[in-house]
Amino acid sequence: MSKKTIILGIESSCDETAASVLTENQHGIPTVLSNIISSQVDVHKEFGGVVPELAARSHLEKIDIIVKKSIEESGIKICDIDAVAATAGPGLVVCLSVGLSFGKTFASLLNKPFIAVNHLEGHALSPKLNTRLTYPYLLLLISGGHTQYLSVQGLGQYKRLGTTIDDALGEAFDKTGKLLGLEFPGGPQIEKLASKGNPDKYDLPKPIYNKGGCNLSFAGLKTSILKISKNIRNKQEKCDLAASFQKTIEKILYKKTKIAFDEFKRINNTKLFNFVIAGGVAANKGIRNLMIELCHKENFNPIFPPIDVCGDNAAMIALVGLEKFKFNKTSSLDHPAIPRWQLDKAAVFLKGAGVKLT
Ligand code: KG4
Ligand code: ZN
Repeated sequence: MSKKTIILGIESSCDETAASVLTENQHGIPTVLSNIISSQVDVHKEFGGVVPELAARSHLEKIDIIVKKSIEESGIKICDIDAVAATAGPGLVVCLSVGLSFGKTFASLLNKPFIAVNHLEGHALSPKLNTRLTYPYLLLLISGGHTQYLSVQGLGQYKRLGTTIDDALGEAFDKTGKLLGLEFPGGPQIEKLASKGNPDKYDLPKPIYNKGGCNLSFAGLKTSILKISKNIRNKQEKCDLAASFQKTIEKILYKKTKIAFDEFKRINNTKLFNFVIAGGVAANKGIRNLMIELCHKENFNPIFPPIDVCGDNAAMIALVGLEKFKFNKTSSLDHPAIPRWQLDKAAVFLKGAGVKLT
């Protein structure tokens, strides 16, 4: 029997230090042997967001322990590793550098190929960890740093259909959480509060709802929450505001996703309409249920990554490493950290650009 490919994946682009060992089963399905994630939430909690220097220091302190643990837990021998994959971007450059340098060093010591991975491609392919998925498919990537609709044509081939022109969706959740006095990251806690509130209590704006195709904007929403939050008097009103925010986000995503569906159909000659929702915010049950409902109406097939790989992890990085390894797409040891690395190379960088959409 031929030996199965084994990839070590390393992730350190933001505030999670992670390592994973991945192989394939006899049917060619990627199989996670270990997936170790060390979150820095406690380090950044008091600052209400990720502090780059503290994050980098924490990655440095932990990376060797996390990689060692992932190899031990997987049950493989170090010499069984066929290639080392590490996130090279996008992300905080000081954080990326830690995992990237570690990965390169590890690969060269083992005398095995090194593979630089785009973190977003990890999120994009993450449903392949539990589903057989064929190209093309539509992807909604919703995380702390990114919000995009992409048509995934193949490994490394992406067409961006829409993106945020200001804040990422996870960022909007986190900033709203901060205004409501919640600990960072606010997303999961807003969801909890929202379940106890009245979603119709506050009428919040839906920026570029009726223009800009499937581009999105969340900055105006945050400004409105800032004003309302100053007059919040009790826990119930807090829950009501969280519920109103959640409902507004759902309305925006419902409308914009419908537009993305049409655009996907327009550019792809396919009869199979798969729709992947990935990234940390994809853990939000309200958004999940709504996307499932919309898919049923519009004849799309909703696909989610396993919940434990919705947030940042190294299994998805190892997975991209595995796919690239199969196509001999290895990287040189001088591959740089790329803080702004877009999946669609032809797309204009919009986030924070203040671009006006008509
Ligand atoms: O993908 P991820 O782990 O990291 C990035 O690459 O950004 O996403 C983290 C983001 C945070 O903004 C967090 O608040 C958000 O995902 N998030 C959620 C939920 N769980 C995580 N947002 C809304 N509802 C959730 N249940
Ligand atoms: Zn991420």
